[in-house]
Amino acid sequence: MRTHTLAVHGGYDPEEQTGATATPIFQTISYAYRSAEELAEVFAGTAPGYIYTRIANPTTYALERRLTQLEDGIGSLVCSSGMAAITCILAGLLHAGDHILSAAGIFGGTVSLFKNTFGRFGVETTLVDAGDTEQFAKNIRKNTRLIFIETIGNPRMDVPDIPAIAEIAHQAGIPLVVDNTLTTPVLIRPKDWGADIVVHSTTKFINGHGNSIGGVIIDTGNFSWEEGPFKDIRTLAEKAGELAFLGHLRNLIYRDLGCCASAFNSFLTLTSLETLPGRMERHCANAALLAEYFGKHPKVRWVNYPGLPSSQFHGRVQKLFGGHGGGLLTFGLASREAAFKFINATKLAQNLANLGDAKTLVIHPSSTIFHEFPLDEQKAMGVTEDMVRVSVGIEDFDDIESDFAQALGQT
Ligand SMILES: Cc1ncc(COP(=O)(O)O)c(C=O)c1O
Repeated sequence: MRTHTLAVHGGYDPEEQTGATATPIFQTISYAYRSAEELAEVFAGTAPGYIYTRIANPTTYALERRLTQLEDGIGSLVCSSGMAAITCILAGLLHAGDHILSAAGIFGGTVSLFKNTFGRFGVETTLVDAGDTEQFAKNIRKNTRLIFIETIGNPRMDVPDIPAIAEIAHQAGIPLVVDNTLTTPVLIRPKDWGADIVVHSTTKFINGHGNSIGGVIIDTGNFSWEEGPFKDIRTLAEKAGELAFLGHLRNLIYRDLGCCASAFNSFLTLTSLETLPGRMERHCANAALLAEYFGKHPKVRWVNYPGLPSSQFHGRVQKLFGGHGGGLLTFGLASREAAFKFINATKLAQNLANLGDAKTLVIHPSSTIFHEFPLDEQKAMGVTEDMVRVSVGIEDFDDIESDFAQALGQT
């Protein structure tokens, strides 16, 4: 099955259950067994079955199967949020004294997780310019355990050369982790370009309706866990084979951290997935039109959208994303004050800290998502005080344009 079909049918067969065409919500914690022997076998992993929703849940498992199929992976783990998913990956791969090599210009919360939270446990992070592939090769150390990139950096909007960076990671014997939140499997399957682990905040485009926070980790099957520098996963691989990494996460890290998704959120996310391909096409089409409009507006100083023919990343957008530039763009006004005036004047677009909703959203990143970083660090992360970020919705483009036209008139 292909992407549009998988989004609707993947991971759930009504006939296996009651015939219900929507995935039922298993609002359940535990699963009873007739005998002590049976439950002991499920615990030992010698018989299949659910134990406790903190480890696995049937509704969440249906979502995991659908997302695995969409990313063409070997398995996945749905988490309570995108941050929980990234936390699980780090906690599953790193020890004190290890090093993360990451693209700069990515989501501020992820940078904070690397530097502040994991920094407290003795993990070091180096941030490099995502567009400058050489920097990844130059900054690999003996103790680097993973490379982390976003398909489109939020909010720097740079598009890394995924296959070249995958090659650098593999030469060093370590996995490449790709955050595919901004592009989703509709625009790119990072597995096809060498990614080993794919992560999403499903909160964004995948959910798309602002009603369920969530995240997912997908093992693409590209990394050989029998090798590599991860001793405990290598040992597990003797028994679990290619599923060793996910087994290590589910039976230890995910179970111990308690970052499972709620069944209701998994149900809503499954439902949203059905319309993801159609929504993505519209997000991209509206964003391309808006980038063009801003590009011609006299009050707009600059526009950053990788799908614009003038963008340095236009070639990569053609090659990696089939020509679709995504639904997010940033633009600059005369000053921070002008940016605030613009946001205050919008009527259709909503001023809030999220992206990927069906609705058009705006935010001033410097004073919100990145407020904890000093201005010079913000600049290195691609955030400036004159910048407004727009998550372009699926409304009629003319309505988006007229809202922004009147708001620009008030700056
Ligand atoms: C690219 C990206 N990755 C991860 C996250 C974190 O996801 P969540 O808010 O679901 O924890 C975000 C949130 O904005 C994001 O934009």
